[in-house]
This record gives sequence, C-alpha cells and structure tokens, in this order.
Amino acid sequence: MRVSVTDIGELLRQTSARDFDGDDTGRLATIKEAQRLIHRLQHPTERGWELAFENWAVLGTLQTFIDLGIFERWHAGGGGQMSLKDLCELARSDVDPKLVAKDFIEEVAEEQYKPTDFSLSLGDKDSLQSAWIQSGHDHFKYDGLDYLSRFLQETSYRNPVDMGNTAYRLGCPENIDFWARCSAKPELQASFSEMMENWTRYKTHWTDYYDSRILLSCDIDPSAPILVDVGGNRGHDISLFLERHRTDIPTGSLILQDRPEALALAEVDQEKIRTMPHDFLTSQPVRGARAYMFHAVFHDWSDEMSLVILKHTAVAMKHGYSRLLIVDVVLPPTGASAFQAGMDVSMMGILSSKERTQGMWEKLLSGAGFRILEIWKDPKQYESVIEAELGSPDA
Ligand SMILES: C[S@@+](CC[C@H](N)C(=O)[O-])C[C@H]1O[C@@H](n2cnc3c(N)ncnc32)[C@H](O)[C@@H]1O
Repeated sequence: MRVSVTDIGELLRQTSARDFDGDDTGRLATIKEAQRLIHRLQHPTERGWELAFENWAVLGTLQTFIDLGIFERWHAGGGGQMSLKDLCELARSDVDPKLVAKDFIEEVAEEQYKPTDFSLSLGDKDSLQSAWIQSGHDHFKYDGLDYLSRFLQETSYRNPVDMGNTAYRLGCPENIDFWARCSAKPELQASFSEMMENWTRYKTHWTDYYDSRILLSCDIDPSAPILVDVGGNRGHDISLFLERHRTDIPTGSLILQDRPEALALAEVDQEKIRTMPHDFLTSQPVRGARAYMFHAVFHDWSDEMSLVILKHTAVAMKHGYSRLLIVDVVLPPTGASAFQAGMDVSMMGILSSKERTQGMWEKLLSGAGFRILEIWKDPKQYESVIEAELGSPDA
C-alpha cells in the first residue's frame, strides 16, 4: 500500500464540507467517490448488515427521538453537551442513545453526548429537516422494501403505469393511492409538503440556471398573468421568481395552483401571488399566461396521464407568446447521479411513474404539440429546465 493507513485516516478526519467553500458540484463528486471507497472497503457481510439490518433500527430510533421532541428541545436549549440523565429529562422518558452508532450524536465521554449539525437540524423546526424522517415513516417506506418486490411479483413484473395500482397502495394501511391518502389525512399531506419544501429549497433553484429574464423580455400582455406555477405546492418556486423580479411584477400576475390540501399549507406574498385550487387533469382556467411551470410534476405521472395535463395546458397557451417550463429530471445517457437513479425507482414505487431521458421528453412533448426550445441543465446534475412552446399549428 502506497499511503499508510494512519495517513488515510488523518486525511479523512480532516476533510469536511467546509473545505469545498460552497463548491457543491465538487462536494457531491467527492461524496460519490467516498461512498465508492466505503463500498470497496466493506466486506459483503458489512454491507448487508448496514443495508438490511442497521438502517431499520436507526430510522426507528431517529423517529422516536423526533416523537419525543428530543432534538427540538436540544436545539431550543442551545445544543450543548448533555449527560444521559439530562437527555432522559429532555425526553421525559428513558433514552437509549443508539444514534451514536451512525454519528447522529457524538459520544464525548462516558454517558456524555453532543449533537451533530445533522441532529441539531432535525430539531430546528424552521429548517423542515425532520420532515425527511417523518415522510420516510409516513410515506416512503411503502414505495420500497418488500412492498415493491411483492407488487412487481403480483403484477408479473410488467412496467407499472397505473397510479391507482402501486407498491405504495399495497403497503399503506388504508390501501389507497398516494394523493388520496394525503388528501384524507392532513398530517400526511403536511409531512409530504414540508419534505418537498425542504427538498426544493436544497436543490439548485430553477432561477439560478434558467435565465428567467426571458419571461419578461417581450411585450407582456397586461390582460394575462406572467407565470402560473402548476402543482406548485407551498409556493417556493414562484416566490423565487417574485424575489428576482419584484419591481417588474404587477400585482396578481403570479398564480400558484395546486390541490386545495396543498394550498392550505402555502406560504406566499398574498398581495403578489394569487393561490388558485386547480386539478390539472381538468381544463386550465388561466388563459394566455406568459409561462406555465411544472416542477417535479410530470415525473409523478405516466405518459398517458402526462399527455392529458399537457394538452389542457396547450389549449390555454397563446401561440408564439406562452412558454412551457418543465423543471424535472432529464436522465443522461450514462452516469445518472444517485439522486436521479434513486428518484426513478421511488417514483415507480409511489406512483407507478418514472424519470425520463431527453428522448422520452421529446416524444412526450411533441405528442402534445410542443417544440423544445432549450434544455437548461442544473450543474448539480439533478434537474433541468425544459423550455418549450407550442409547435407550428400546421406541423
Ligand atoms: C412532487 S410535488 C412537486 C411540488 C412543487 N412543484 C415542487 O417542486 O416542490 C407534485 C405536486 O403536484 C400536486 N398535484 C398532484 N395531483 C394534482 C392534481 N390533480 N392537480 C393539481 N395538483 C396536483 C401535489 O399536490 C404536489 O404539490
């Protein structure tokens, strides 16, 4: 071995996210290499143990810490070192500090613990970070595990395309589809909406890699809205557009559409952004807007249902003026990122849907009468903005 084990250990101990100084692309590439390193170092038994034995225990323990309010009170109290006795008092219960095993909390001496940045973030309500664990508990466990394998077996390994028949439905206790379950139980809508909000905040903002000035650099029709965010959840994306172009946005020219249960949790500038309950499987009531945006919407839907949504949108659009903006994954021919590949399988499990390659997007959009103008790529290799307009009426 060229480098000593001690040197490698020291180098690894000294490396942290701070070394990347905001270079997320470099940080993510390093994580990928570090994970490969772990996989090369792990004995197959260690990998099996981690995947199928340890993960369940850790998730169960994390959820228990969240349920007991430990992270929230630890964060509120300043996040300092605590003894096991202090932690039990904080939890108002006996606590088993298993989370040491996965670096969620740090053991500094016998029965003395410190939170890590991660566990503190789980206690920071405003960060919405704990919504990931809560959503895993409420939703995502049903898109994988043995539910996915049983579902595929029961459907003879046919590619799933029916949103009403999913691994999720097979797994969840109510035996209903994902959106129906969110609509039926506000707490399930909340954990999903908060997780999406956190995820959307984390991902490269669409306004950072799409030149949103394009939407304002023409003769704006004052009788129609500028941007409609369709399926826009709590309004994060449309608020980004507003912040960037606030002085150029007349009151009421931004519209946030979603299911009523999602809009109930929206947090937007009410004066500038109008919220409008709308089912996108029905006719689009807002006509002639400069742009209609769909972020992480089509990956929830099969081609057949996506065509329904696209055709309703096309009818509402003004030829030569309106733009369609799809913010979604465009799978590369090789080297899909872990996010992209993982999301593809999760979409299959939750909604019997999928991520798409550029060719699949071209086929889908041309089938609904659209012409792609440009595909704007996120440097972090997660999503892209597909900018399109209505094709020639004679084509
Ligand atoms: C994966 S989330 C994406 C949310 C948001 N655009 C984002 O990127 O954070 C999909 C959104 O579609 C909405 N949705 C699902 N079915 C819908 C329907 N039939 N009509 C309107 N919105 C719907 C959901 O409520 C949810 O907010």
